[in-house]
Amino acid sequence: MDVSFLSKVLIALAVFAPLLPTLSSLPFIVIHGIGDACTNRGMSEFTELLSEWSGSPGYCLEIGKGSWDSWVTPLQEQTDIVCGKVKEMKELSGGFNLVGLSQGNLIARGIIEFCDGAPPVKNFISLGGPHAGTASVPLCGSGIFCVIVDALIKMEIYSDYLQEHFAPSGYLKIPTDMSDYLEKCRFLPKLNNERPGERNATYKEKFSSLENLILIMNEQDNVLIPRETSWFGYYPDGAFNPVLPPQKTKLYIEDWIGLRTLDESGRIKFVSVPGGHLGISKSDMKKHMVPYLKDTSSIEPKHVLNWIASAWDTAMYKVGLQDNSAVLLPFDTK
Ligand SMILES: *[C@@H]1O[C@H](CO)[C@@H](O)[C@H](O)[C@H]1NC(C)=O
Repeated sequence: MDVSFLSKVLIALAVFAPLLPTLSSLPFIVIHGIGDACTNRGMSEFTELLSEWSGSPGYCLEIGKGSWDSWVTPLQEQTDIVCGKVKEMKELSGGFNLVGLSQGNLIARGIIEFCDGAPPVKNFISLGGPHAGTASVPLCGSGIFCVIVDALIKMEIYSDYLQEHFAPSGYLKIPTDMSDYLEKCRFLPKLNNERPGERNATYKEKFSSLENLILIMNEQDNVLIPRETSWFGYYPDGAFNPVLPPQKTKLYIEDWIGLRTLDESGRIKFVSVPGGHLGISKSDMKKHMVPYLKDTSSIEPKHVLNWIASAWDTAMYKVGLQDNSAVLLPFDTK
């Protein structure tokens, strides 16, 4: 180990340390799932805990009246509403991190891919997101969501009426009815660049510019069918089995949205945690979410932090302690 180099780094840290508490961390926004609302106790607690543990300001962004609108407002419209808010919030102008829960993950991804003129999203943490869609019969459980969905599928989920009045119709993907899905489903095929001939390179470019993508799956999730959709895994076209791991899907192999690019450059963490849909323990939140909300490297004065970060990085590399996710932990003054 190069002791003189390390000592220079430590001196630099000591000199700059007093500056650090005056810098604010990158803020994050939370987008809740269907039937939820930012004012619900669970949601406000979730946002507050993440904020407290990371030391970064967090904002739960609401769509209309919350719960009701999350069911009945089409996802493109929900995305446009959040996109407008994101561009208006001065707090986010230097970039931000995103935390999505369930359906909120698709809106979050809409912000990343479609929201022209928005500040950059750095890290995206997704819990229980139906990224590759969700199917129902014949494998759905007996939860209320499944009962409703089953009934709706029989009533033409891809009809104009449901596409305009029922948010989940934007990501229900029945693998045995792919032609209707591709033709008539209005949200997910666009978000995932699934339509041949209509793939928009901008969506891929924006999504693949994320610094970190954390995909968290609940091991006992029986709301998302299959639960592997949280990792972009899904059924093959035309059948309900087997569930393909993300790397075996066409979306990944042909890299429609940059998932493969992100994965091959080591920027995706595929995480699974015990629990039913959206269940996560405090310790798993601390382990899999908080480290990605702490980062301060893109905040001014940029050059100072970047310099310290790279010096520290090099020093850690030299002493064999390299851990990318924790490189900036020394800046946490708590
Ligand atoms: C692709 O998406 C971008 C950003 O939303 C948009 O400006 C552009 O017109 C789209 N391109 C095509 C070919 O649709």
